[in-house]
This record gives sequence, structure tokens and C-alpha cells, in this order.
Amino acid sequence: MPELSRFPLTADLRICRILNGMWQVSGAHGAIDPARAVAAMDAYHDAGFTTWDLADHYGPAEDLIGNFRRQFAARHGAERLSEIQAFTKWVPNPGMMTRPVVEAAIDVSLRRMAVDRLDLLQFHWWDYRDQRYLDALRHLADLRDAGKIRHLALTNFDTERLAIITGHGIPIVSNQVQYSLIDRRPAAKMAPFCAEHAVTLLTYGTLLGGLLSEKYLGHPEPGRGELTTASLQKYKQMIDAWGGWALFQELLAALKTVADKHAVSVANVGTSYILDRPAVAGVIIGARLGVAEHIAENARVFDFTLDAEDLATIEPVLAKSRDLMRAIGDCGDEYR
Ligand SMILES: NC(=O)c1ccc[n+]([C@@H]2O[C@H](COP(=O)([O-])OP(=O)(O)OC[C@H]3O[C@@H](n4cnc5c(N)ncnc54)[C@H](OP(=O)(O)O)[C@@H]3O)[C@@H](O)[C@H]2O)c1
Repeated sequence: MPELSRFPLTADLRICRILNGMWQVSGAHGAIDPARAVAAMDAYHDAGFTTWDLADHYGPAEDLIGNFRRQFAARHGAERLSEIQAFTKWVPNPGMMTRPVVEAAIDVSLRRMAVDRLDLLQFHWWDYRDQRYLDALRHLADLRDAGKIRHLALTNFDTERLAIITGHGIPIVSNQVQYSLIDRRPAAKMAPFCAEHAVTLLTYGTLLGGLLSEKYLGHPEPGRGELTTASLQKYKQMIDAWGGWALFQELLAALKTVADKHAVSVANVGTSYILDRPAVAGVIIGARLGVAEHIAENARVFDFTLDAEDLATIEPVLAKSRDLMRAIGDCGDEYR
């Protein structure tokens, strides 16, 4: 992969700008065979997709990373394990955020992933009225200082709380948020704040679970029965909130024009558009490991650049959509 596929998330942590998303192994996107899944991870790594996004609650995801690392070390030697970046999340239920509670959760992830230190721990919190998220983050920062976590990050936090957290002197490397051609809420407040405070964005939902592809161009509006994965269902709802299926077809047609010009795919155009946004470090693309793969196609994102003519083809369609900041709120508000 070309050098521009890499991004220095921090001085000591380089990532692939397309991360492999592991929500797709959780069971909500069809059955996954663990052995096949681990075998499939090799192909991603060998192609240069060395960075994984997972969570404590994505079914077996953390265990798959552990098995992948063990098999990788057996084959290539333990010294090459540093080629792999695995970013997990901690999504606690509301409750006391004492040091033992926080440390116990981190220890589970360390054990499952077979690592001495988590590369990046992304913290989620359900209810801002419960301010114990600050207690949790202080303990996580201490665990980072103690060497159990390399870097601390967030997921689905809004700009107001990100400002509170950084204002408390807790260094945050990245915030993982939904960001796509149809959900451009991060551009309103989050990205400007991040750019000013050296925080980056890792994005999900960029391919709308696969809806942002040629497969759905000219396709009648899919009913619930056709939306066979949790992410297809999630992002069909976003399309409905954004402007509906007819406007989405207009967008797909515009993207197809741009894609054809560069001899790439609609998904490539959607990924490239988000990679070019301020503060974006990487786009996470979900991988149904051992079931389906788009490795060669997604690598093509690094072979072309969107130009002013392309943006002039896309932007007029986006301008017809609803303002999701007003309809939903800032990043992550859909979870609250
Ligand atoms: N922090 C959060 O709250 C949160 C929420 C959601 C997701 N995430 C993260 O983001 C990751 C991505 O999940 P997502 O739900 O947002 O899904 P997504 O990445 O928008 O969609 C993934 C699906 O897109 C399809 N796809 C991939 N490359 C393609 C290509 N080149 N052309 C056509 N289709 C392609 C695949 O479908 P097929 O498998 O059918 O081929 C794949 O399963 C998750 O795994 C997770 O790591 C985080």
C-alpha cells in the first residue's frame, strides 16, 4: 500500500487509514465461524490493512484478535506483532467508576486480546447526566500512565463533553463517530474542535453498511426483510432521516458519475470523501470475516483523489438533504 495509506495517530502509533471494523463478527450481521474469521484476518494484514477496530461487546472480537496474534506470532515471530494495531472500546453499564471497576474491565480486554498493553482504548458513556464518566476517564488515564493502555480515546462523545474532558487535562487521541456523505454532523462542531485541539476522528457508517454501493443504485427501496445485517438496518434509518430513498438514489447516481471518471467504485468515492475531511484520521470499514471481503477494492481508495469537479457533482445533491444536526443533534446523540 502507498505511504499515504498510513497516518500517524500519535508520534508512536501509525495506522492504516482504512481500519477493519469488527462489529460485523458480533453475530448481528450473520453467523461467523471463528477459525475462518481468524484465517481471513491474515489476508487483510498481508494487504496492508493492519489496523482493527473492535469493542468489548462485539461478541468474540477481542478473542479473535487474541487468536490472530497468537497464530501470527507462531508464523512470523513475536517481534512482528508490532505490525498489528488493535483498538478496542470499553462500553460500561452505568455504575460506580472506581479504580478496581475500571481496571478489572481493562484487564479482561488485555487477557482476551493477548496483549500487555492496549494500543488505543476508546471509551463510551451512555448518560451525560451521570458525570461519573469523568471518574472513569481519570482512572483510564492512570492506567495509561501505569502502562496498561497506550493511548486514550473516546467514541460517540459530543463536542460539548469532549471540550469538558480535554478541559480537565485528560489527553484524548481520537473520537470515533458516525461520518458519511449522508451524516455530515461531525463537520458542524466536532471536526473544528478536534482540529484545534489535536484530536482526530475515526469514522464509522461511512459505507452505510454497504448501502453506499453500486448494488443499491437503481434498486427499489429495500424493505426490512432485505436488510439482513444490523448495520444495513441502522443506516437505512439514517437515509430516511437524511432525505429518503429517492434522494439517496440521486446521490448514488452522482457518485457513480464520479466513480466512473476515476475508474473506481461508489464505495471508494464515499470513503475518499470522508478521508479528505478535516480532522479525519481514518475510516472504519466493517468486515464480515470469512463471509465476504472487499480487500482489493477498498485498497483502491489510495489510488485516486477527488477534485473540485467531483465535489461540484456531489455537493448539490447533499444540499437537498435535511440538517441532521437539527434532526438528531451532535455526534452520538442518536445513542442518548
Ligand atoms: N462506535 C460505534 O458506535 C460504532 C457503531 C457502528 C460501527 N462501528 C465500527 O465501524 C465498523 C463499521 O461498521 P458499520 O456498521 O459502520 O458498517 P460499514 O463499514 O458502513 O459497512 C460494512 C459493510 O459494507 C460492505 N462493504 C465493504 N466494503 C465495500 C465495498 N468496497 N463495496 C461495497 N460494499 C462494501 C460490506 O458488506 P458485505 O459484508 O455484505 O459485503 C460490509 O459488511 C464496525 O465494525 C465497528 O468497528 C462503531
